[in-house]
Amino acid sequence: MRGKFITIEGTEGVGKTTNIEFIQAWLDGKNLPFVCTREPGGTPLAEQIRELLLAPREEVVSSTAELLLIFAGRAQHLHQVIEPVLAEGAWILCDRFTDATYAYQGAGRNMRTDLIAELELLVQGSLRPDLTLILDIPVELGLKRASDRSEPDRFEQEQVEFFERVRQGYLAIAAADPDRCVVIDASLPLEAVQRQISVALEAFWFSSEESG
Ligand code: TMP
Repeated sequence: MRGKFITIEGTEGVGKTTNIEFIQAWLDGKNLPFVCTREPGGTPLAEQIRELLLAPREEVVSSTAELLLIFAGRAQHLHQVIEPVLAEGAWILCDRFTDATYAYQGAGRNMRTDLIAELELLVQGSLRPDLTLILDIPVELGLKRASDRSEPDRFEQEQVEFFERVRQGYLAIAAADPDRCVVIDASLPLEAVQRQISVALEAFWFSSEESG
């Protein structure tokens, strides 16, 4: 049986790393074989593309160049990792996927979503995540957490208004696709955040067992 594809999304500083560890422990607890990966990245080539994308630079990066680099990495990641793993029956837990492109490049950079959808079709065909957890917190709080952690990358150097658009982009995706997406209030204490994640995972697990 084909594995399930779970993605985790959110703006900067929402706590993806800690919560990915929590989801990994949940998958282990269910004895489910899985591969944890990320975007941009996930293969040697796609990790090099990630470095190109995240490096702060003086040259202004065109939004189109950024979008194509993201989908180039995604094509490689799908071919090398995501598709074969799912086909073997293991699960994929991916730190960001195409919802990030709609949120960051679409909403954040005001790129046309119909063009993003064309690239999505080219690169993924009909493949979509089975479950997406969107960690949501007020932008200012997330940026504060992210800046306490490391030097800002090229995306983290953006203005607050950019991240407001990204956040609203994610919330719009969740509203449009409520069967797949669960919004998690990540501004609460960690225990409460993880309780919400557990509920979402158990509900997803139950429905995927039901459907066979
Ligand atoms: P990370 O810091 O969460 O690992 O993600 C790296 C950055 O890449 C993050 O600022 C969001 C950005 N990004 C996009 O702009 N579009 C995408 O499609 C993906 C996957 C990430």
